[in-house]
Amino acid sequence: MGFFSKDIRTMDDLFVHTLRDVYYAENRIVKALPEMIEKAEDSQLKQAFKAHLGETENHIARLQEVFRMHGVEVRGVDCPAIDGIIEEADDVVGEVDDPKVMDAALIAAAQAVEHYEITRYGTLVAWAKQLGRHDCARVLEKNLEEEKATDAKLTAMAEGSVNMKARAAG
Ligand SMILES: [Fe+2]
Ligand SMILES: [Fe+2]
Repeated sequence: MGFFSKDIRTMDDLFVHTLRDVYYAENRIVKALPEMIEKAEDSQLKQAFKAHLGETENHIARLQEVFRMHGVEVRGVDCPAIDGIIEEADDVVGEVDDPKVMDAALIAAAQAVEHYEITRYGTLVAWAKQLGRHDCARVLEKNLEEEKATDAKLTAMAEGSVNMKARAAG
């Protein structure tokens, strides 16, 4: 963001800025997921993280498509929000020893990430439509739907076996 001038003047600028924010976030998530896959104890959870790593790679490809469709340079801008969510997750996970408690911690961290993505894509879809870019909105909606589905899957796991096992371990 400009120090001497204001770089975001129009709704279009704001749309592009937010695309770059989520592009940075998705790239950060791709780097964080392999460690979460490794740390997950429950095979279903491990599998869910692996599946979402594949989806996340697709999210990046779809964002690149949207940048191209909109005729702007493909690049990210710093997103301190996702940096903070991931740093906090690393701190908490680093304090956990019991594998079942670890799974509960991983699910909670992953859901914080999903909710961040959901809020960003929800906004981007609405703004794309407002700007008359229904083509971009359709592509962004695919990412939004996969984030929501992942969040729902994680909720089902949190409410199901994983937390039960953590309680039994305690
Ligand atoms: Fe994503
Ligand atoms: Fe996601």
